[in-house]
Amino acid sequence: MDLIAVERFDQVLRLSKQESNRVGFIPEPRLRREFCRECIITYEEDGKVLGYLHHSPIGKETRIHQIVVDQSVRRCGIGSVLVRMLICKTPLGGKVTLRCRDGLEANHFWPTLGFEIKGARPGGRARGRMINCYER
Ligand SMILES: CC(C)(COP(=O)(O)OP(=O)(O)OC[C@H]1O[C@@H](n2cnc3c(N)ncnc32)[C@H](O)[C@@H]1OP(=O)(O)O)[C@@H](O)C(=O)NCCC(=O)NCCS
Repeated sequence: MDLIAVERFDQVLRLSKQESNRVGFIPEPRLRREFCRECIITYEEDGKVLGYLHHSPIGKETRIHQIVVDQSVRRCGIGSVLVRMLICKTPLGGKVTLRCRDGLEANHFWPTLGFEIKGARPGGRARGRMINCYER
């Protein structure tokens, strides 16, 4: 990684740690690997990462693993831009899927981008919430 990429990755890592409660914990080495494989899309302004989306192919579908927008700039359309950037990269007709814990505010976000709940499964015992399975 060059210096700019290292700085960009550090900002992604910071956002990921801030929201690990909501988006789940991914160990730093794995996140770094995924970043190098270009499985992380970032939204930046003036060299500052304001949001990122982590995804990867799973069989024929594209799975969104994490999306985080900096708290100071939420509800400004950045999350929507990140998802649209991913959709542009996705093969035509390919499914995009994700899981989202029931009760999170993000459950209001996904339907605005055409995602629908296709099922739900029990979450971890510690959290005691259902996990919604979205698809678009
Ligand atoms: C979910 C998240 C990525 C959304 O990013 P964002 O940039 O704020 O989203 P947008 O501005 O593109 O929102 C688009 C629309 O989604 C809906 N929406 C987004 N956040 C919402 C919220 N907290 N409550 C209700 N509706 C919401 C609104 O309809 C919004 O349009 P509006 O602001 O014109 O009303 C961001 O809130 C975030 O980082 N949350 C913490 C991490 C997280 O929960 N990730 C998802 C786990 S599944």
